[in-house]
This record gives sequence, structure tokens and C-alpha cells, in this order.
Amino acid sequence: MTPALYGISDLHIGYPENREIVAGMHPETGDDWLIVAGDVAETPADVEWALGTLADRYAKVIWAPGNHELWTTAHDSVTLRGQHRYDHLVRICRNLGVATPEDPYPIWTGPDGPVAVAPLFVLYDYSFRPAGTATKEEALEYAYGTGVVCSDEFVLHPDPYPTREAWCHARVEATERRLTATGLPTVLVNHFPLVREPTRVLRHPEFALWCGTERTADWHIRFRAAAVVYGHLHIPRTTWHDGVRFEEVSLGYPREWRIREAGPSRPRLVIPGAAS
Ligand SMILES: [Fe+2]
Ligand SMILES: [Fe+2]
Repeated sequence: MTPALYGISDLHIGYPENREIVAGMHPETGDDWLIVAGDVAETPADVEWALGTLADRYAKVIWAPGNHELWTTAHDSVTLRGQHRYDHLVRICRNLGVATPEDPYPIWTGPDGPVAVAPLFVLYDYSFRPAGTATKEEALEYAYGTGVVCSDEFVLHPDPYPTREAWCHARVEATERRLTATGLPTVLVNHFPLVREPTRVLRHPEFALWCGTERTADWHIRFRAAAVVYGHLHIPRTTWHDGVRFEEVSLGYPREWRIREAGPSRPRLVIPGAAS
């Protein structure tokens, strides 16, 4: 087989069962690439262990941050917040040879290539609002009323930006510029879904507030996506939007994958290898 491109996300290796799954994760061929679309862990030490383990085995590992990597919690010796925390994680990845949203987009030249594999970090801006609410404030008030509030509100700090949505909008603008300059077809990799539709099946629809931004709704078309890889929802599946394949590739928490008939997710084929 020629090399293939795989994707997985939401490894959450703070759970020993999930750490064990990562410890046992191996490519089919030594030339395979692996996308890791965020929520590896909460501490930089755990992120380093997981990405380092995978980078030793796959020819290339491509990482986009999730919300959990950006949490600043009391039980972590790394107290960095917001942008500084993100920069710290980027430095760790670069030491491991793992591609980040701050690096040139790796060009996949295997089957179906050349394709630019673009890890993105665009966060969310509270624009996936519940029906009947018109502003972030109204939407948050509604969410607090239902009791469905993402922990990000307390531990994902936007410093030095005034708000998470300001950080999101700065990231959207910078990312749009880079993607516009990329002439190739793309595989877009983002922790959060780039379109809102996949959030419609959430058990708690209010949670969509912390799941993306309307500003990326046409990126899969504008930037010639061969596929979009994301996670965050912990609902692994394939959906199609405007003829583009979206792969939700999450492993998720042990309590979630234990009750799935198929068991824990393995890395999903994003671009299959060809028989040579
Ligand atoms: Fe997650
Ligand atoms: Fe997440």
C-alpha cells in the first residue's frame, strides 16, 4: 500500500484508558500521516507525551488545538493563559516535529495529492445561538437557564484579547489570509466544526454556542476542501455539506466510547492509500 492520511481527535489522555489507546496506536505503513484535531489533554506535559508518542510512529503528525489544551486549571504547574499558553504548545509541537497552525501547511503528495493539509485554530464566537436569541448575552442567559454551560467560560482565558470572540475574530482574519494564498486543494483541520449543521444533533443544543463561528460557513467551498476533519462534538461520523466530506473523528471520553457498538474510534481514513 502507498501511504494514507488518517485523522483522530479528542484523545483526552487524562483518562488512563485513553492513554492506553494512544500507547497502542500504530500506523499501517511507516509513511502514513496522522491528523490530531485537538483535545489531546489539559496539561502541556500530557500533550507532549501523546504527540511525541505518535510523532515517533507516523511520518507526519499535524495538530490543531482544542479547547481543552487551552484550559488553565489549578492542578497544572503551567499557569500560562490564552495566547501565551497556545504559543507554549506550538513550541512543544515544533520540538517534536509536529505541524501546527503556525507552520507552513504540509503538502500531501500521496494518493489524491497534492493537497495542503491545513491545521486551523479559529475558536468560536457565540454565533451558533439558540433559536429566539439575538445576541451573545441573550444566548448565554438562555444557556445558564438550562444549566448547559461549557467549562471554557471559567478556564479558557482569551488573554491578551478582551474576549474569546475577539480572539476568534483575529484568528479568522489571519487564517483567511493564509488560506487565500494557498492555491492547492485542501484538507481543512479544525477542532470545531466549520459549519453549524453537525451541531444540530447535540443532546443539549445550547452547547452549540461553544462549537464554532458562522464566519467559517463557506470555507470548505472557498478553499477547495477535499475533506474537513474536526472533533469537539464527541459524535464520530461522516456528513456531507455542499458535496464536501466532513469527518468528525473524535475518540471521546471512556464513558462515551464504552457504550458504542464499534468501541473506541481508531484513526479514520481521510485519504486512503492506493494499492501499489
Ligand atoms: Fe473533546
Ligand atoms: Fe473540545
